[in-house]
Amino acid sequence: MIDLNNWQEIDKNHVWHPYNSLPSKSKILSVKRTENTYIILEDDTKLIDGMSSWWSAIHGYNHPKLNEALKAQVEIMPHIMFGGLAHEKASVLSKYLVDLTGLNSVFLCDSGSVSVEVALKTAILYQKAKGKEKYKFLALNNAYHGDTLGAMSVCDQKNSMHSLYGEYLPKHIFCKTPTLSFDADFSEAIEDLEKKLEKYHNEIAAFIFEPIVQGAGGMRIYNPNYLKQAQELCKKYDILMIADEIATGFGHTGKMFAVEHANIKPDIMTVGKGLTGGYMTMAAMITSKEVSDAISNSEIGVLMHGPTFMANPLACSVAIASIEELIQNNWQEKVEKIQNIFFEELANAKDLKLVKSIRNIGAIGVIELNDEFYAQKIQDYCVSKGVWIRPFGKLIYSIVAYVISEEDLRKIVQTMIEAIKFCEE
Ligand SMILES: Cc1ncc(COP(=O)(O)O)c(C=O)c1O
Repeated sequence: MIDLNNWQEIDKNHVWHPYNSLPSKSKILSVKRTENTYIILEDDTKLIDGMSSWWSAIHGYNHPKLNEALKAQVEIMPHIMFGGLAHEKASVLSKYLVDLTGLNSVFLCDSGSVSVEVALKTAILYQKAKGKEKYKFLALNNAYHGDTLGAMSVCDQKNSMHSLYGEYLPKHIFCKTPTLSFDADFSEAIEDLEKKLEKYHNEIAAFIFEPIVQGAGGMRIYNPNYLKQAQELCKKYDILMIADEIATGFGHTGKMFAVEHANIKPDIMTVGKGLTGGYMTMAAMITSKEVSDAISNSEIGVLMHGPTFMANPLACSVAIASIEELIQNNWQEKVEKIQNIFFEELANAKDLKLVKSIRNIGAIGVIELNDEFYAQKIQDYCVSKGVWIRPFGKLIYSIVAYVISEEDLRKIVQTMIEAIKFCEE
């Protein structure tokens, strides 16, 4: 048997953590359990969770309804292959996704990155079905779409270190990101998009983008009208639109899906993270009927992808419970309240010496510093005051569960600001 008194040693010697060396070069905290919007460490320190586990735990942890859904499903059927077999939970979840997105055809898969891979493959197959050989994608600078190689190839080239993988990564076409902020002028970015489309449209299968907020590539909020105009251009040049809603979906920007800010309907959408309320690894790629019909009725005939854990019933059950919890409990009011509190509290960071800018939308609040030097110091300070955040580079940010208390949310932002002031001393 393994000696459980020493599990942290095992972690240190044998277990990779994300974006890290082995053993880890940065501090790793040991978690004992979670409780609503709190993380309890091994030494019983209680941290307010300012990260909601990378945008996923939208209802907090250990939610009674989500727990119940999992417990009930495990008794009925923990897993069943999806090849040649169907089950009720996959159908119910898919119908919710169809109704919420206004799209038609759902592919349930394991993780956000995989859903992006499937989206890219689907776009290529669609174009082929239409008699076009188009193998390039148009993506935005600062984009983040996941860590598998296909998804990585449409991420910002510098941030995701394309150069490390040399010739292995396919080369795609990148265009300028719209200027920061919800109402900023975006004419330069749209001109660049049009220029690239004009030049390369015969090679481009689809334009992939994170609607309204570019997440891991810089927490960049941009003008929805950019997407409206982008949609017109994509139509003009016969390019599919892939909206990657993995981070923004399920209410994070104040709309169920961020594309709703722009009132556009993409041809393909990817969702993940909040899909299961952060309980299980599951994502989905959803397309219009036109896309699935084109592939299914062509000589190609099939969408060639099929993970072992596709449509896992446990994940489907908890995703259904998460969506029902969301739509039955005034999520929009809760997110609006969070947005207002972020707005109020972040204003106190505006004039600090180390601060470059502040921004917020929905359940997302961001302080961008002038320098990335302080990230670890700020994280350590926040933990010492009972707040869990994980800055990356210059970005000190928080994305919270919709059930967080007003007091805790204010404490998160106030502690972030105190930490910055501490670094200024
Ligand atoms: C916009 C976006 N797309 C794709 C992904 C990848 O999802 P996953 O980490 O589940 O593979 C992420 C993850 O952060 C994301 O933010």
